[in-house]
Amino acid sequence: MRDFEGKTAVITGAGSGFGREFARTCAALNMKLVLADIQPDALAATAAEFPDHDVFTQRTDVAKAADMEHLAQSAYDRFGRVNLLFNNAGVGAGGLVWENTAADWEWVLGVNLWSVIHGVRLFTPRMLAGGEECHIVNTASVAGLLSAPMMGIYNVSKHAVVTLSETLYHDLQLMQARIGVTVLCPAFVPTGIADSERNRPAGLRNAAEPTPSQQMAQASSQKAVSSGRLTAAEVAEKTFDCIRDGQFYCFTHPKILKSVELRLADITGARNPTDPFTYKPDAAPAV
Ligand SMILES: NC(=O)c1ccc[n+]([C@@H]2O[C@H](COP(=O)([O-])OP(=O)(O)OC[C@H]3O[C@@H](n4cnc5c(N)ncnc54)[C@H](O)[C@@H]3O)[C@@H](O)[C@H]2O)c1
Repeated sequence: MRDFEGKTAVITGAGSGFGREFARTCAALNMKLVLADIQPDALAATAAEFPDHDVFTQRTDVAKAADMEHLAQSAYDRFGRVNLLFNNAGVGAGGLVWENTAADWEWVLGVNLWSVIHGVRLFTPRMLAGGEECHIVNTASVAGLLSAPMMGIYNVSKHAVVTLSETLYHDLQLMQARIGVTVLCPAFVPTGIADSERNRPAGLRNAAEPTPSQQMAQASSQKAVSSGRLTAAEVAEKTFDCIRDGQFYCFTHPKILKSVELRLADITGARNPTDPFTYKPDAAPAV
């Protein structure tokens, strides 16, 4: 997709980080904007950046089917079409994988995976019916290509987003549809992701204090995210290059692909998993 002028973009997680940067780029390209987020003040702050644009905001919990249905219907009611969809909202929780609670799993899989499931099942048929050129960007992560320790739920959610995106791509190819797909796989970038708990719904909070492994995972995620050198704006720029070029895998930190190759060699060689931090030992969680 190369022609953006006057077309409509829907962005989830638009109140912060990558989502806000996607909104800035879309506005600069003169697109109409549908912005969704669970945090109303953050959503309003993003929308306030574009007083001269046609912007529609909707408070949305992307994990909820009814909220996502409402978002899709509102976007089409308001603008009549959606050309670019960013399934982007996401949260993180860490720690030893057996220590995560059912609430942790429900929360993270709800926001990171069910949101993309809903986005794909609600917007793709409408895009197909519209017959225009469209593009869907699913924000995964390098955590969708590796299995680093202390990040079990996040890894599961992002691996699922990668395979959902790959399957979506193949299904659309099979139908010769005019809908491109990109799966965005960044490494650590300074955004609000390490403070995801701010938006955890009350009903999915843990009664118990975080375990030592969860506290350690939180501290190392804060450190890794805050010391990321690439900015969210640069990630958005790279993402738009991928959209324009019809590139499916969008890598912002290509050095990490060596670790992905190592994992793939483990699989094809039926070898036990090699330490994912082999090439970056300083980033490994200190136990
Ligand atoms: N920043 C990184 O290091 C990094 C790396 C790889 C992938 N990602 C992914 O990028 C995406 C964007 O995250 P970010 O880094 O910009 O973080 P962020 O916290 O800055 O932005 C995430 C946004 O999602 C919103 N959100 C949270 N729960 C929601 C819900 N239930 N419904 C709707 N919106 C909700 C938040 O309010 C926030 O505005 C996520 O999918 C994340 O997993 C981030």
